Amino acid sequence: MTQAAAVKAPTLPDAQTVLSVQHWTDRLFSFRVTRPASLRFRSGEFVMIGLMGDNGKPLLRAYSIASPSWDDELEFYSIKVQDGPLTSKLQHIQPGDQIILRPKPVGTLVHDALLPGKRIWFFATGTGFAPFASLLREPQTYEDYDEVIVTHTCRDVAELEYGRRLIEEIKADEMLAELMGDGFADKIRYYPTTTREQSPRMGRITTLLEDGTVFRDLSIEGGIKPETDRAMVCGSLAFNHDIKAILEGFGLREGANSEPKEFVVEKAFVG
Ligand code: A2P
Repeated sequence: MTQAAAVKAPTLPDAQTVLSVQHWTDRLFSFRVTRPASLRFRSGEFVMIGLMGDNGKPLLRAYSIASPSWDDELEFYSIKVQDGPLTSKLQHIQPGDQIILRPKPVGTLVHDALLPGKRIWFFATGTGFAPFASLLREPQTYEDYDEVIVTHTCRDVAELEYGRRLIEEIKADEMLAELMGDGFADKIRYYPTTTREQSPRMGRITTLLEDGTVFRDLSIEGGIKPETDRAMVCGSLAFNHDIKAILEGFGLREGANSEPKEFVVEKAFVG
């Protein structure tokens, strides 16, 4: 497990101190850092974070904030790319180290970008789960919706573990229950699938939506409906493209902060 670290005086511009690091697989890790006192963000948004490069210039990438807006600390969930300019180094951070964090949150996976609805779908692949780790701990999610369906497609079972454990902890957390309101945990319906390792649910979520398996498994009559259903999507470019087509096929329209509609899409950080 992780350990809290002593917070050192910053030596980098926009420096934040790493508090804990957890490695999930040889491709995935999560970490928590101090939160700048001035940073305000909406659950689901991303910021630029990184390290100082060998050339003395900051090496930054977009990362969804995985912690909710009310949390004192910031959490991130990252892939490790062995020859990736940033993640080849970032994967070695330890408690007490510093990272760079530009405190300018932006993003479309926010409640403001959706019209009111009854049921919200969070569609994620891989590290695309990160913004939903934030939104699942955001009280507004349960104020706005009767049902929260979380789908997460990964190659193998171990890659589901961060999300699976987070949802389990959220459902059992008494402080969250107080914050979110009674019965919030029952609104969450978790639908994990794997594509390259045997698990109780196999296949890409796109295929399972197209052939109706998801709706049969979750006892949802009539599929996704523009009147009641809202969706947020975060994964690879190909995944986002395919889900967007499926949602549009159901009659949903893509929204934005300036023009809320029925679904929103954001690319996951990919290396
Ligand atoms: P697959 O194993 O069939 O490629 P990655 O680890 O490469 O980011 O992929 C994460 C998960 O997303 C994998 O299970 C992968 O399935 C799935 N995936 C990749 N592209 C798509 C897509 N276009 N539609 C649905 N799922 C996808």
